[in-house]
Amino acid sequence: MRGLILSGGKGTRLRPLTYTGAKQLVPVANKPILWYGIEAMVASGIHDIGIIISPETGDQVRALTGDGERFGARIRYILQEEPLGLAHAVQIARPFLRDGNFAMYLGDNLIQTGLETLVHRFESAQPEALILLKRVANPTAFGVAELDAQGRVQRLVEKPKQPPSDLALVGVYLFSHLVHKAIDAIRPSARGELEITDAIQQLIAMGSRVESVELTGWWLDTGKKDDLLEANRIILDERTHCPMAGTLDSGSKISGRVCIGSGTRLVRSTVRGPVTIGDDCQIEDTYIGPYTSIAGGVQLKNVDIEHSVVMEGTRISDAGRIVDSLIGQRTVIARHTGKPEAHRFLLGDDSLIEL
Ligand code: DAU
Repeated sequence: MRGLILSGGKGTRLRPLTYTGAKQLVPVANKPILWYGIEAMVASGIHDIGIIISPETGDQVRALTGDGERFGARIRYILQEEPLGLAHAVQIARPFLRDGNFAMYLGDNLIQTGLETLVHRFESAQPEALILLKRVANPTAFGVAELDAQGRVQRLVEKPKQPPSDLALVGVYLFSHLVHKAIDAIRPSARGELEITDAIQQLIAMGSRVESVELTGWWLDTGKKDDLLEANRIILDERTHCPMAGTLDSGSKISGRVCIGSGTRLVRSTVRGPVTIGDDCQIEDTYIGPYTSIAGGVQLKNVDIEHSVVMEGTRISDAGRIVDSLIGQRTVIARHTGKPEAHRFLLGDDSLIEL
């Protein structure tokens, strides 16, 4: 079985970060979201993986992720010129998928359980599609499934205004080659996309067997800031492997599960885990509280930060207390000594400042 991971699209909900980078590369516990999907595929025995990329961010995805060797996989990149929908991505990947069974994973989704049991169930029961469902509080934001009394999938609707149930479609799907036929039969939706939800509905209309599994573990769609912070919290909580390579002076203290990368120095600072800190960071007179990920090359001086994600090369000094924040790469946050009553900003479009 081959794997298809979708890492194209526009990422509008994570602006401004996604003006300059792919949303699938935003780090969760200092690892790009996309890599969790790749690792899940490899762990389930899928080694031939195609990744859908966009013209805007494809080069970054490719440069960071590589040919798959680091994951024990063979990765091929498939350029989708325009984000014309999830089913469109499958359509252009057809030469790679070669009419075999495949697993599809949305590159901004994270699920707690691996794919092993799903792949096994798909291969032994041999339906034309196996979908994953999860009960959610806000079904209007997702594809939604309606089941009959026997629990069989009857109907699927994409982002319905009046959801027929609270069962959302999780971004992990298993398909046989018949899905290509279903995709050929559908038309773009009102939002102009070829929806995979409509393709699965088409499979049902064609009389094909579509099975579903209700996910019991957590599922995160990392589309927005708060989802991303939640993903970071959960991954930091569950992570067991935690390297400790940096140095701390006698005035520094760490407690709980704290990973510190090589070349990182802590001076008169306190870190209370779960926290992960990347390589080559300088941390001085700072408190880092639970559920914080600090990427490589970050400098923190006289900062109190908690439940936040700070990306590569950012410098923060004398900034007071920072919570619930997602801070992009190479950002500078500093206190200006001239006029204490005034704030000075150089902010990209769609930035969010809460003072
Ligand atoms: O997260 C689960 C939901 O994902 C499902 O419940 C929905 O049924 C499904 O349509 C999808 O909805 P989203 O609106 O969240 O999809 P999004 O546009 O965020 O795209 C999902 C991933 O696929 C994301 O990593 C970007 C990528 N993508 C998206 C499009 C539209 C592509 O690679 N190409 C595309 O054309």
